[in-house]
Amino acid sequence: MTDFLDIHKTSKTDLRAILTQAADMKEARKGLPKGTPDAGEPLKNQMVALIFEKPSTRTRVSFDVGVRQMGGQTMVLSGSDMQLGHGETIADTARVLSRYVDLIMIRTFEEQTLLEMAEYATVPVINGLTDRTHPCQIMADILTFEEHRGPIAGKKVVWSGDGNNVFASFAHAAGQFGFDLTFTGPEPLDPEPALDGLYNIERDPQKAVQGADLVVTDTWVSMHDPQSARERRHNQLRGYQVNDELMANAKSDSLFMHCLPAHRDDEATSAVMDGPHSVIFDEAENRLHAQKAIMRHCLGL
Ligand code: CP
Ligand code: NVA
Repeated sequence: MTDFLDIHKTSKTDLRAILTQAADMKEARKGLPKGTPDAGEPLKNQMVALIFEKPSTRTRVSFDVGVRQMGGQTMVLSGSDMQLGHGETIADTARVLSRYVDLIMIRTFEEQTLLEMAEYATVPVINGLTDRTHPCQIMADILTFEEHRGPIAGKKVVWSGDGNNVFASFAHAAGQFGFDLTFTGPEPLDPEPALDGLYNIERDPQKAVQGADLVVTDTWVSMHDPQSARERRHNQLRGYQVNDELMANAKSDSLFMHCLPAHRDDEATSAVMDGPHSVIFDEAENRLHAQKAIMRHCLGL
């Protein structure tokens, strides 16, 4: 039994084993209706709690479908409907939930909530996004890259935009999977200092993407950012939009990724999102396959 809290907290060997299992499980159910159970139903008799303190489409549906395909059962809980949102401590919530379920996935604001949940739960806890990181997303992104282009080790990945939670998990992954990561964005929105050393900075986006195998961006205003900062952030980030001009400076066979949800024609143009470099919907699909393997890893099944 083990948690999946962040990419740098899981060993390289385990990360690689998760991706291999994800690819194998994906292959094994190619062409089958989405509700078809996986052979052997590895999560049979397992009960999984999916807790959301923030909105979600992909994480919610992909975890729910993934558990069901593997023969387990789910309950989707909104943080505000739980006593957790009304004063019960995280530690008590973790101890209580551990008496009912075999696995907990939580999407929350403060990283501390995730860490406390993991500390006090006696069942594995998976990070479904915090203000600081989004490791399940990046596992899906690496699965996606490798499906299209082979091993990511040694490749050049360029992030254009806000140095946010999704970037942070890319930075952790750069260390673990051995790819080269460049951040291009405005200085006030630089990634947190704890990530220093895991990536390079190039302020000029056109220069940054030269030689890029993969160009990535994300929303300019994350769920944890105050709406009052929206206009300022847009002004700071406008020059970092991923558009055809920027993609033309990357490698001719470069890929484009975005974790979604996107604000079309803000951080990336529709031309890029729907264009030949884009693999955004493969990324979304691969959330399902990557997380199924993550859950099996956590449960040792
Ligand atoms: N990419 C992602 O986590 O999407 P949701 O917010 O829809 O879960
Ligand atoms: N950075 C975004 C990612 C959403 C999946 C957010 O935190 O809102």
